[in-house]
Amino acid sequence: MIEIYSNTDGSKTLLNQNLNETYHSRHGAIAESMHVFIEKGLQSDAIKAKQEITIFEMGFGTGLNAILTLQHQASPQVINYHAVETFPLDFALVKQLNYMANCTDEIIHNYTQMHQLTWEQNLAIAANFKLLKQQADLCTLQLEANSIDLVYFDAFAPDKQPELWTAAIFKKLYEAMKPASVLVTYSAKGDVRRNLMAAGFEVEKLEGPPYKRHMLRALKN
Ligand SMILES: C[S@@+](CC[C@H](N)C(=O)[O-])C[C@H]1O[C@@H](n2cnc3c(N)ncnc32)[C@H](O)[C@@H]1O
Repeated sequence: MIEIYSNTDGSKTLLNQNLNETYHSRHGAIAESMHVFIEKGLQSDAIKAKQEITIFEMGFGTGLNAILTLQHQASPQVINYHAVETFPLDFALVKQLNYMANCTDEIIHNYTQMHQLTWEQNLAIAANFKLLKQQADLCTLQLEANSIDLVYFDAFAPDKQPELWTAAIFKKLYEAMKPASVLVTYSAKGDVRRNLMAAGFEVEKLEGPPYKRHMLRALKN
């Protein structure tokens, strides 16, 4: 069961009742996504330097990371956005989160398109932004080698989904990533850091989003 959860900053997120886990920080969804995925990932030096990038998102969820990426896309960079999700959400529920409250009509239209896009279909949402949503489980998914520039690793927390934060899963992502590529995640747990390093990444501990001391950024050189 999924229900709406009110955050401490007045914003909203979704709560997965089975796991007792929210989709974003309980202190603010947009602030967390902006800090971890946009500022430390999309806007990192290695990624900014590329003319065309492929982003792989683990867990499309509400589509918040995807729409923030489109909003903060640096022209003329071309973005191919590939998201996987095991449990697609109903857009009627997502709309109640009100993430588009202060956005232009164009962004609201883009966000709606992202949700209405058929799974497994690759479509241009904007001039330089293509989206492929795949209904698939990361544990069994096969990824093309040397195809990804930036990973948004946004699974539920390691204590709730330990099977996704393993060295084996990170190794699979490492092999699918290009040279000079980046993986960002909100978790800074010691086990996660060690598993990323065991998979071959160089790992940086960075300042975290509001109310969180640290996050991790992993680099494939
Ligand atoms: C923390 S939420 C991510 C929120 C999302 N990135 C957003 O911007 O709303 C984790 C997401 O991963 C999905 N998920 C969980 N296990 C998965 C798996 N094995 N493979 C793919 N997606 C999975 C969940 O259904 C959920 O939507």
